[in-house]
Amino acid sequence: MQIQWYPGHMTKARRAMQEDMRLIDLVIEITDARIPLASRNPDIDELAKGKGRIILLNKADLADDGLNERWASYFSKQGIHTLAVNARTGMGLKKIQPLVQEACREKIERDRRRGILNRPVRAMVVGIPNVGKSTFINSFAGKACTKTGNKPGVTKGNQWIRLNRTLELLDTPGILWPKFEEERVGLLLAFIGSVNDAILNSEELAAELVHFLSRRYPGCIEKRYGFSMENISDSGYGVLEEIARARSCLLKGNVLDTKKAAGFLLDDFRGGKLGKITLEIPPEDVR
Ligand code: G4P
Repeated sequence: MQIQWYPGHMTKARRAMQEDMRLIDLVIEITDARIPLASRNPDIDELAKGKGRIILLNKADLADDGLNERWASYFSKQGIHTLAVNARTGMGLKKIQPLVQEACREKIERDRRRGILNRPVRAMVVGIPNVGKSTFINSFAGKACTKTGNKPGVTKGNQWIRLNRTLELLDTPGILWPKFEEERVGLLLAFIGSVNDAILNSEELAAELVHFLSRRYPGCIEKRYGFSMENISDSGYGVLEEIARARSCLLKGNVLDTKKAAGFLLDDFRGGKLGKITLEIPPEDVR
């Protein structure tokens, strides 16, 4: 599968991120809770060195609750404060404020020692495309906040949103570039819909998803479409045919329309209709 993030975009994104890093104390990194590693770019560890760190496992409504907890504990062990949230409904967002204080404790102490009191923490939201950065900024900042206007030194066009006396947020998110080098990562990003579907072979992708789901969440496909996998050949295509039959996806001459069935399966997975599903397991938990 050919999935690309052009080097030019990457260089530009990296430069923009480096510029913005100088302005902030805290990085709020948004990941997709269904693929918490594949939806990150680990270069952020280097770029955000010395800054307070928070990771949000967003779209937690679509992910496995048990694994949300295990992922939160995985990142917390690396010293990064982590929370499962739903940026669309606002679930979990109230817990962020106390975490900000925790994550920036050193900076707040340092300020205090220098006699600087009540300087707000400045934060930036970062993440690869489609993880929900804009949705998060809108929900978290809400309508109650006021934009503080351009400040000297701030990249032209950037504005700070003052959330309260202790926290200001850069109003434009920092865009990280996805890491497609590993085929597995490209596949996971494609499953959740973060790769332009037009460039993908949807049947091939859906057949791969069948393999993933049968291994990790056996039964979820049968339950959704109402058939038994017992007599179906192991191939993902066999399952697509069965979905086509169950959903009456037929071409001329009663030929099963597996492309349409693939579309059903991908849409249902992405919309959470197959259940709350997480496709990655924290490395130390893999047995
Ligand atoms: P980005 O800025 O990081 O690129 O992402 P953006 O906020 O545009 O969100 C990408 C998609 O993810 C949007 O859906 C958004 O509604 C959805 N989304 C964001 N947070 C959550 C969440 O916590 N749970 C769920 N289920 N979805 C979330 P869309 O279909 O592209 O747009 P729309 O139909 O919502 O307008």
